[in-house]
Amino acid sequence: MTTLRTFIAQEQPPINTALIEAVAELPPSVAPIARYAFENGGKRLRPLLTVLFSRLLGYEKDDIYRLAAAMEMFHVATLLHDDVMDNADLRRGHAATHTRFGVTPTILAGDALLAKGNQIVARFGDARLSAATSEAIAMTANGEILEIAHQGRQADTLETYTDIIAGKTAWMIRTACDIGALRAQGTAEQIESAAAYGFNLGMAFQIVDDALDFAPSSRTGKPEGGDVREGKLTPPIFFYAQSLPPAEKERFFTAFASQSLSDAEVGRIIETVRAEGFDAKTRDIADGYLHKAQDALAVLRAGLPGSVHADILASLIGYVRDREA
Ligand code: IPE
Ligand code: IPE
Ligand code: MG
Ligand code: MG
Repeated sequence: MTTLRTFIAQEQPPINTALIEAVAELPPSVAPIARYAFENGGKRLRPLLTVLFSRLLGYEKDDIYRLAAAMEMFHVATLLHDDVMDNADLRRGHAATHTRFGVTPTILAGDALLAKGNQIVARFGDARLSAATSEAIAMTANGEILEIAHQGRQADTLETYTDIIAGKTAWMIRTACDIGALRAQGTAEQIESAAAYGFNLGMAFQIVDDALDFAPSSRTGKPEGGDVREGKLTPPIFFYAQSLPPAEKERFFTAFASQSLSDAEVGRIIETVRAEGFDAKTRDIADGYLHKAQDALAVLRAGLPGSVHADILASLIGYVRDREA
């Protein structure tokens, strides 16, 4: 863990410098909105993954930070859009951007960030990089739209949930890894393993995030119980609903579908999820994906000398499993 923390402390400043440079290129109407979102913090997971995979495969140049910054721009753009769609007023422990700058400017700033990120990627002159990031943006939108299409719906399996999170979260994390390996001119097998690691880590990351939706806002910096209010059938809510007797279950889904649960009822559901350990049970689902990420990393490591980067990628698996914020 210390290695991971040291690495983050060392890599965040150059990533943030690249972000500041990118923001300076944005049109004057967009720059303050983007600056607000970037300066409010964030873990910088996606850019760190891009740097890690490039270094793992022997890439030494500092231009990787520009590519990494583009990943954070895509991520933040999707957060700007996501908070509008989710009616979320808290992000990274601060007022959500749309509550400060207005919904329309925030949506358009998100669009501008996606465009600027793509421009930064295009400057690398490698069509494979541009193709990968463009696809990730489209897949993210697809996942978010699928989620909206299923809002409030009752289901007997987590199949649709799995499709939703693959698009809205895992694909972008996959691409963060993929383009690091691509930039380092990794072999086809190495690129494939990097992508498999990222996709599975990303699935687990969102599953754990959905457990954390029941953790206090003071810890996550995001609204508490937002998913149940917004009719998102995530695993803890799925387990909660499964635990109810038929009549109560029907009442729950009626209110869930119309997003009309009272604050008191949401509070009671949060308490039940915690008391019954439905959030912990949710983390268990993440384990299967984390094992797959581990397997993909093992394949990669087998063909490479030992490195601090390989060790950090291994410790990220445990970090995602146990993270509390
Ligand atoms: C939030 O992502 C959106 C999800 C995919 C769950 P992060 O948890 O990486 O958010 P920041 O960047 O650290 O704020
Ligand atoms: C995160 O979705 C995925 C994207 C931002 C594309 P969520 O809505 O589940 O994430 P949080 O909880 O708002 O961070
Ligand atoms: Mg959200
Ligand atoms: Mg959302």
